[in-house]
Amino acid sequence: MSLRPSSSASRRSFLAAGAATAAHVWVPRSVKGYNAEEVIARLAPSSPMGVGVSKWELDTPALCVDLDRFEANIAKMQAALKRNQLDSRPHAKTHKCAPIAKLQLAAGAIGICAAKVSEAEALMEQGIDKICMTTSNLAPSKIRRAMQLRRKSKDFIQAVDYEPNARDLSEAAKAAGVVADVVIDVAVGTRSGIPAGDGALALAKLVDSLPNLKLRGLLSYDGGAQHITGFATRKERTLKNIEENVRTFEAMKKAGLNTEIFSGGGTGTYNIQHLVPGFTDVQVGSYIFMDMQYLAIGGEDGDPVYRDFASSLTVMATVVNNRFPGRLTTDAGAKALTLNLPHAGVSGEPGMDYNAGSDEFGTITFTEAKKSYQMGDRLELIAPHCDPVVNEYDHIYGIRKDRVEVVWPVTARGHSQ
Ligand SMILES: Cc1ncc(COP(=O)(O)O)c(C=O)c1O
Repeated sequence: MSLRPSSSASRRSFLAAGAATAAHVWVPRSVKGYNAEEVIARLAPSSPMGVGVSKWELDTPALCVDLDRFEANIAKMQAALKRNQLDSRPHAKTHKCAPIAKLQLAAGAIGICAAKVSEAEALMEQGIDKICMTTSNLAPSKIRRAMQLRRKSKDFIQAVDYEPNARDLSEAAKAAGVVADVVIDVAVGTRSGIPAGDGALALAKLVDSLPNLKLRGLLSYDGGAQHITGFATRKERTLKNIEENVRTFEAMKKAGLNTEIFSGGGTGTYNIQHLVPGFTDVQVGSYIFMDMQYLAIGGEDGDPVYRDFASSLTVMATVVNNRFPGRLTTDAGAKALTLNLPHAGVSGEPGMDYNAGSDEFGTITFTEAKKSYQMGDRLELIAPHCDPVVNEYDHIYGIRKDRVEVVWPVTARGHSQ
């Protein structure tokens, strides 16, 4: 699997597809560098400014989402899944942001997924109560915390993939005074989950028999399929990989077990999962933002760029050194963009290669640039991989027509336990 654009020509089209802005942008000569508190103050109805700060005036590195593109992505996903008679249960591991989860629910999502207990806690604290924990919790303290979440919300669902864990969950549910909703995580590939087949069926029967658990169905997420390059291969492998899981789903159904949930899939396979018999909903994450990794997987129409959803997430950075020919240094390094590949894209500058390998600095090399960059000038970057980049920031600036319209907290930032 290659996550790198294969040639400079295709890199150009990735960047064109990903660019949230055109190359010709107004960059103020002397940039104020507003921080989040100042931006929020300027958005207040009482502010004499009356209009949001330009994204080019933000203190950097700053994480921005283009609201027109982001909203269109949500609408497009909902419409596409509806056409294919699937529901969406978007994964909050991508955004970790309660206001975004609320927008997804308002658009018709049946619930939100969470990867970690602390993430689920932070989201529920902010009013997100329909949460499916797609990761099983093995440690007693996490099991207890998960059952506290179930106590707070009847719409909390916990994944399980191990018989002793199911027994522990039932005990913890009893102690919390609840009957906890549970789905069996059935592996597709080797990452997590119980292998499909007799063991998974036995676990489902055990869950069904335990006094304080209620079986709701199964999860089957194929992480390996999401970034397969080329739609035809992606489709073939997705459908092949899940065959055993479908057999397990059917065996559960035949045994009279509850299979009302058969959930999985992501941004790369959202338009394939409806071909899986019995599938109910898709746990899409990255579609709201997109990133350099996803742009590279190719679309159903054979286009090497995946254009089903628009790249909306960018990082604003400042040029801090222009003294060396063919090179620029910025203030956005690994702590702003992570070390994921492919390299970040420089919006409007397809000839630039961006290396975020240094902790605090990004290094750009180029043979041709559209303009000459001065110290203090701004650049807009497309994230290599959206999930871990979001986790580096306290705030996401929601941008419309280049101006900040809203500032969202990254509610569960750093909540990786
Ligand atoms: C269990 C699970 N579901 C859904 C997703 C979302 O996938 P994507 O961002 O590719 O849409 C992920 C991402 O890693 C995941 O781990």
